[in-house]
Amino acid sequence: MTAPRPDADPWRLAFHISAPRGLVNDPNGLIHWRGRTHVFFQLNPQGCTHANKAWGHVASADLAHWQRLPVAISPTDWFDRNGCYSGSAVEDENGDMLLVYTGNVRNAAGERETYQCLARSQDGVHFDKLGPVIDCPLPGHTAHFRDPKVWRQDGAWWMVLGAQTKALLGTVLLLRSGDLRDWQLVAPILGAGAHGYMCECPDLFQLDGQSVLLFSEQRAAQDGRPASNTAGWVAGQIDLNTGDYSHGPFQRLDHGRDFYAPQTFQHPDGRRIMLGWMGLPEQDSAPSVAHGWFHCLTVPRELRLINGQLCQQPVDELSALRGAETRLESLQIEGRMPTDLQGDCHELELSGISGALTVELRADAESRVALMLEPGQIRLVAHEATGRETLLGAAALPPGAGRVLRILTDRSSIEVFVDQGEITLGARIYPAAQARGIALTSKAGARIAALSFWPMR
Ligand code: FRU
Repeated sequence: MTAPRPDADPWRLAFHISAPRGLVNDPNGLIHWRGRTHVFFQLNPQGCTHANKAWGHVASADLAHWQRLPVAISPTDWFDRNGCYSGSAVEDENGDMLLVYTGNVRNAAGERETYQCLARSQDGVHFDKLGPVIDCPLPGHTAHFRDPKVWRQDGAWWMVLGAQTKALLGTVLLLRSGDLRDWQLVAPILGAGAHGYMCECPDLFQLDGQSVLLFSEQRAAQDGRPASNTAGWVAGQIDLNTGDYSHGPFQRLDHGRDFYAPQTFQHPDGRRIMLGWMGLPEQDSAPSVAHGWFHCLTVPRELRLINGQLCQQPVDELSALRGAETRLESLQIEGRMPTDLQGDCHELELSGISGALTVELRADAESRVALMLEPGQIRLVAHEATGRETLLGAAALPPGAGRVLRILTDRSSIEVFVDQGEITLGARIYPAAQARGIALTSKAGARIAALSFWPMR
């Protein structure tokens, strides 16, 4: 049998971070260190299942072109032998890069043991494990506590950690340390309200005057409905010394089907940049698995809080990947209007939209991915040649919303940004290689003030 060749398949991504072999999940340890941005990610290098979790590693000087680096840490020690789970990275007082991650262990009785561990690097490529610094569950909590996000502020080190109470409710804990080794619990920080049975991958940061907390809720299947793990955010004001956090409601971060476990870092120029996993824990296969790989990360997205709303836009650096622009102006769409534009890897920006409009991407005579702007909602639907339709994402649109669409298509991935990025939809798509057309459709008539198209390299 010949081994699967990920690079020979039509779904291989051009500008999204993925692995040539194996399964990728959460982004980990995002850090700008000595002039380059390092992105680590959960990786099973051996197959397309959730096992053998190591930290895959890429780095970039421009957030657009990524250099693949060797796997940073692998589950080889007693404190992480069933997985080097998610975590973060900081630069310590010596200028070294320190990874803070969760060691996942199944003991002889098959029970979960969890350790928060350190690994250090002086060159940003090779890492030495330093072992656990938190080695037992915190009082009142189960062994489900993981995904440390660490940062330095006001002369101390701070950590948020995803956790589960003994009553089996999801929560986020705030801890403090003077030296990254000895940690004290400050308090659980989430206010009242149900947050699933476990909160994964928390991330707390200041943005535009607010304390924003991202986390991913694990929610059980209920009333015949499948599990709906959801990544979201809350914003408010936190007092780090007491953990008092008055915050607004949990809001979904992305309305596409494939989005979970995002993490952020602060760029030296002040921007807060997020990458998410384009996948969900409950997904167990996809067409790319036949080619030996599964899942990817989103593009880096810059975050802003605008009028109380968390907005996301692809980082400006991605424009370095654009080829020559095609620009069309003052388009009046009546019925179906095929365009001369085509490809499987491109960026499309439509502005000044009015009227109900469908943008068809990756289209051929029988199949397409349709982004539908309708009164009060936006939907993304894959139409296959077999007649099967799959909803890839949907969101309510407030009145007046949906005037600008920015769409990044990368072979088997699509990311949509509406207006200033108040609404985003991230989803994986698996069209036939020859489905490369772009068409615009409107039953009742729509107008587009300007359309820009760039092939992406
Ligand atoms: C979220 C998550 C994390 C965990 C990691 C394991 O997707 O379950 O909580 O650290 O994935 O791969």
